[in-house]
Amino acid sequence: MTAKSMLRQFVPPVVWSLASRAKRGARTPPPREDAQVKSLRDAIPGWLNAGNVRAFDRCIAAMPEGAVIEIGCYAGLSANAILHFLQKHGRRAALFSADPWVIEGPAEPAGSGLGEAEWLGRRRAYIRDTYERATRLHSAARLPHHFEVSSDAFFADWRAGAVRTDFFGREARLGGPIAFAYIDGDHSRDQVWKDFTHVDRHLAKGGFVLFDDSGFHPLDGAAQSAARAAAMPAYRIVAKAPHYCLQKTG
Ligand SMILES: C[S@@+](CC[C@H](N)C(=O)[O-])C[C@H]1O[C@@H](n2cnc3c(N)ncnc32)[C@H](O)[C@@H]1O
Repeated sequence: MTAKSMLRQFVPPVVWSLASRAKRGARTPPPREDAQVKSLRDAIPGWLNAGNVRAFDRCIAAMPEGAVIEIGCYAGLSANAILHFLQKHGRRAALFSADPWVIEGPAEPAGSGLGEAEWLGRRRAYIRDTYERATRLHSAARLPHHFEVSSDAFFADWRAGAVRTDFFGREARLGGPIAFAYIDGDHSRDQVWKDFTHVDRHLAKGGFVLFDDSGFHPLDGAAQSAARAAAMPAYRIVAKAPHYCLQKTG
């Protein structure tokens, strides 16, 4: 008789079955990441949360007609993931984005001899170039309409229906309904709220908004603004995995 079968004689069947089920659950591996997103992660620097990737997939599949907006692109990891899901779900929506590449830190490496200003300037150029190269490589067939401006300036243009030349040198008219917005720019409470209120003005009924870094600590700026948005009667929480993903219902 094995130790396991001996033990089983003394454990009530209900407890045994619950314990086995919990053990099986603990062994269930997390869902495998989309292969294309994995290859983007291997090539582009960034901090893209796996829960956000699942939210992109879900929101882009279910969103109404309208544009997709990204505030804060850094080196293009999330932008290229969003473009991948637009392709995967056969959605024709264009991605519009804003990032003036306000790059802070990390500190100049010891002994670089560049000086703080030169180091930051070179680092900014590196991130900006990486965004361009990554996007031209991974999303050549559907480049986003990116604008190298702050989100405030971007939304002013959106509201005005302005025609502007984008980062890739193409003319585009901004404005119209938004179907999905990913807010990942300046993470301060006030700016995240401002970005949300701008999105809210144009978000179509049934549209989605995802707040990056809103699910780590309730006192974080993004968390406070996302929770405030989630409390609005026109919104419901679709997921908090861990970050807030909301749908506009009214
Ligand atoms: C966390 S990174 C974005 C990461 C990117 N979404 C990704 O996952 O690959 C934040 C970005 O927000 C940008 N940013 C900061 N303030 C901004 C503002 N007011 N408007 C637009 N972008 C801003 C920064 O330049 C930076 O590239």
